[in-house]
Amino acid sequence: MALDARRIRQDFPALQKTGAIYFDSACTSLKPKAVIDAEAAYYEQAAGCAGRSAHRLAKRTEELFEQARKKVAAFLNADAEGVVFTKNATEALNLAIRSFDYSSRKKIVTTVLEHHSALLPVMEQERRGVAKMELMRTNPDGTFDEEGIADCIDRLTALVVVHHTTNTTGMRAPLEKIVKIAHEAGAAVLVDGAQGVAHSKVDFKRLGADFLAFSGHKMCGPTGIGCLVAKKDALERLDSFIVGGETIESVRIGQVRWKRGAKRFEGGIQNYAGAAGLGAACDYMSRIGMAAVEEHERKLAKRLIEAIGGVKGAVLYGHPSPEKRCALACFNIAGVPHHQVALMSDSLASIALRSGTFCAQPAMESLGAPGGAVRASLYIYNTEEEIETFAETLGRIAKLAR
Ligand code: ALA
Repeated sequence: MALDARRIRQDFPALQKTGAIYFDSACTSLKPKAVIDAEAAYYEQAAGCAGRSAHRLAKRTEELFEQARKKVAAFLNADAEGVVFTKNATEALNLAIRSFDYSSRKKIVTTVLEHHSALLPVMEQERRGVAKMELMRTNPDGTFDEEGIADCIDRLTALVVVHHTTNTTGMRAPLEKIVKIAHEAGAAVLVDGAQGVAHSKVDFKRLGADFLAFSGHKMCGPTGIGCLVAKKDALERLDSFIVGGETIESVRIGQVRWKRGAKRFEGGIQNYAGAAGLGAACDYMSRIGMAAVEEHERKLAKRLIEAIGGVKGAVLYGHPSPEKRCALACFNIAGVPHHQVALMSDSLASIALRSGTFCAQPAMESLGAPGGAVRASLYIYNTEEEIETFAETLGRIAKLAR
């Protein structure tokens, strides 16, 4: 069933209270009341810590935390035992890239289009001499040189680190092909799902990747919670990362027996409220249906690209076809610095845009905008009417530049 953005808007207190035209969901999405309530319910009704004390508040916390894990697993069609809670996608990516076993293969294959949170841990592994980075070839319009994928991923490759959807073009990587080639070569695949999980149906088992990292806050969930989702045996290939309380079976000085599975990576008191909120976000997105989200975004993407195309002096980055994107576009207007476009959009029409290089400097350079751009990123609560206001506002800003 088609998504009703007007009805959905009623669920978001920030839209009612600020009156903003919120086009910055790739940075962080707004949160529905159901998610805000689920976070508060932890503090009001559970309020303990999981896996430690024996009293009823602790038991309630444990149940709530494990229920959230099951909700994430069901949302992504993954096994709950493979869902590790982290602070965000950045931590999940660091966990997988820094803890992976490079003893027999040292190559990590990635792309220039990755967010810094995926690229920097790979570069760090190279700097430390742990692994060697190689880039798959991509084109200036953000598409892949698909013929070149197999040239890069070979029997020396330990891990392939690649986005599901980028935060600079909203375009998807050819994951089916990459996963197939990587597995044939005996390499593991880590997918950065930070933008993908929020905007499209991601079925972890069907995707076949070994790891998937994502954040809650881009999919209507709270900030401060994310996950590394792994195939059961894939977690066994990671060394310890953040160690501490609850990661062990037993400790004697000089001798540790680690827990197996997700808990081994969840050191210290966890973000229980955040996990409850993320579980509620999974419920919320499931009720809307990810197919309906994709369809809504396709319509918005088409109108968004037309709107930018209609502005004199506007340059769009990435492939211009809206079918290739979620509802996200980076652009510049000739003669107006990107930060000024964002500031003027806010002051003229309360439109929230992001400007800069989006924590993806090499990606922006490869797309032809090394100095940065303006980004409009839309979601389930945005409407075509809002895009009309955006188009008019950009037209006014472009005129001022002449
Ligand atoms: N990665 C986030 C963005 O693209 C913060 O804006």
